[in-house]
Amino acid sequence: MRPSTSVLVATAIISVTACPDHSNYQSHPHLAPRQTITSNPGRNATDWSYEASYNWGRIKPAYELCQTGTQQSPIAIGNNIGLSNYHHPNFTGYGGGNVTGNFFNWGYGPAFTLKHSGDDWTDLPSMQFDDETVYLKGWHIHAPADHSVGGRHSKAELHMVHVTAEGHERAVIGIRIDPGSSDSEFFAQLPQPLIGFNDTTQDVGVTVDMRAALAEVNDLSEFWTYKGSLTSPPCREGIRWFVARSVLFVGVEQMRDVLRVCTYSARAEQEVWRHEINSA
Ligand SMILES: *[C@@H]1O[C@H](CO)[C@@H](O)[C@H](O)[C@H]1NC(C)=O
Ligand SMILES: *[C@@H]1O[C@H](CO)[C@@H](O)[C@H](O)[C@H]1NC(C)=O
Ligand SMILES: *[C@@H]1O[C@H](CO)[C@@H](O)[C@H](O)[C@H]1NC(C)=O
Ligand SMILES: *[C@@H]1O[C@H](CO)[C@@H](O)[C@H](O)[C@H]1NC(C)=O
Ligand SMILES: [Zn+2]
Repeated sequence: MRPSTSVLVATAIISVTACPDHSNYQSHPHLAPRQTITSNPGRNATDWSYEASYNWGRIKPAYELCQTGTQQSPIAIGNNIGLSNYHHPNFTGYGGGNVTGNFFNWGYGPAFTLKHSGDDWTDLPSMQFDDETVYLKGWHIHAPADHSVGGRHSKAELHMVHVTAEGHERAVIGIRIDPGSSDSEFFAQLPQPLIGFNDTTQDVGVTVDMRAALAEVNDLSEFWTYKGSLTSPPCREGIRWFVARSVLFVGVEQMRDVLRVCTYSARAEQEVWRHEINSA
């Protein structure tokens, strides 16, 4: 179904930023745990919408890659694609896992950015793969999931965004989220009630154990990986994606709490081209 123009306009107004390019989230101060501010963190409205993601390339020349790119994300992961034997992520640099930062809603779902000092990203938890080190900048949730596996979309997907030492987005861990039989400890840490998609001006300082999210998907011991892109305009490439094979299961009420504060935020799946899925 095609959304009406008024729906598109309303979506544009509450839209805040590109995913996973969260550079503009750094424009507001980081809070101490339990501090809450209501302010305008300076998130800009966007000229694109998820409801029309198949046509982002026609909006303006700067979005051309959304149409012409050769490694666009997300993609469908087939049942017959084996797991990756290369690019194993190493989380030793995550340490104990507790990190302090701002919890908020990015306009489409729950999100969090880590506190860090100035332009120095290297004091953040680090992940290594191959000979690269990248730093955890933050995370956000999409609903439904961006990546389908075996033709099925999970209810939501967590994106853990990692940057280079210079602060450029370089690697994203995608973790699918579905309702299961017991609560997730990772989600249980988040301040309740979760901040709604309409309330993009609120920030809450919290400490979150990021190891919990990894532990709930077996530390990505099994994963798919490929060369991909940002999943919203300008669709820049050069992002290594890691998609966990394990699903992060949350309780039914936890799932509903997450879905309540999310709005539709999955980009149409892109044709597989030069993604080199699971290749060395
Ligand atoms: C918002 O958009 C303006 C104009 O494009 C830009 O100069 C500014 O840096 C943007 N602000 C943020 C926080 O991204
Ligand atoms: C992971 O990285 C740490 C250093 O951060 C290193 O000591 C360790 O050997 C690495 N583990 C693997 C399996 O490569
Ligand atoms: C992380 O924080 C939680 C809650 O404050 C605490 O119970 C836990 O011991 C901390 N973990 C580490 C490894 O410091
Ligand atoms: C979101 O905001 C719009 C516009 O202010 C309002 O009409 C709508 O009821 C709100 N939706 C929710 C779920 O709060
Ligand atoms: Zn994302």
